[in-house]
Amino acid sequence: MASVRSAALRTAAAGALAGAGLTAYALAEARAYTLRRVTVPVLPPGSPDLRVLHLSDLHLTPDQTRKQKWLRGLAGLDPDLVVDTGDNLAHHASVPVLLDALGPLLDKPGVFVFGSNDYFSPTLRNPLRYLLPDDGTRHTDSGQLPWRDLQQELAGRGWVDLTNTRAALEVRGVRIAFAGVDDPHLGYDRLEEVRGPADPSADLRMGVAHAPYLRVLDRFVADGYDAILAGHTHGGQVCLPGIGALTTNCDLEPDRARGLHRHPAASSPGDPHSAWLHVSAGLGTSPYARIRVACRPEATLLTLVARP
Ligand SMILES: [Fe+2]
Repeated sequence: MASVRSAALRTAAAGALAGAGLTAYALAEARAYTLRRVTVPVLPPGSPDLRVLHLSDLHLTPDQTRKQKWLRGLAGLDPDLVVDTGDNLAHHASVPVLLDALGPLLDKPGVFVFGSNDYFSPTLRNPLRYLLPDDGTRHTDSGQLPWRDLQQELAGRGWVDLTNTRAALEVRGVRIAFAGVDDPHLGYDRLEEVRGPADPSADLRMGVAHAPYLRVLDRFVADGYDAILAGHTHGGQVCLPGIGALTTNCDLEPDRARGLHRHPAASSPGDPHSAWLHVSAGLGTSPYARIRVACRPEATLLTLVARP
């Protein structure tokens, strides 16, 4: 009887140790900030390369000094354009901290849209719910975050607010036509405000959204946008090594939870009825579930080059 009990105790202790080890790993991975570099052949022949820094899902809190320091270092990349696909905040005091961390990046041309975690404070939830299919619940009953301050500050530094609107920028001689929507995860996207053929005279047509819902991607493709940038998925956040993401927290399939793909997924680069889709795995997590597994937090330097 005693040996049965000690075997059970050993098994329980081994299980607890394995659990503690996995938790320690997941906590460390959530802080393993990584720069990913991707080349996208999307510009007209003869165009100069354009370096676009894609930031997403920072979920920044004032105590995340390591993340802030890493963010400050991104200015050294000297990008031509910054695209911020939302979920910047996770604390009511984060706006000045974020602005300080972005630093000289705010002097670069930039565009942005917001996600639910710019509008509403994070709340404590069962993290396992993240792995389950979307149940349609939207958490808009928590306190509001200071998104108006953030909007004002970013726009004041010259970044273009693409909330349910279209805009144009010229960056290093490349004319870019943008369309952006407010957060589709909250149902705030107003596609009727941005629909219509993208400017055919632009060198590049780019759609921007926080959450890559299929209705938004389909609309951008139908209107002729060449590239679409989004975040929201956290790359799955908890992935299985060798298998990948289990969820995207939206209706995009897990195979496209992060990285560069086509939309529609099966289309080829030469297909005029398709676009490049870049989904950022983002740099953060909810402050109540600061873990990542096989899915490092990331910013991406997209080098846009001429089509072959
Ligand atoms: Fe997020």
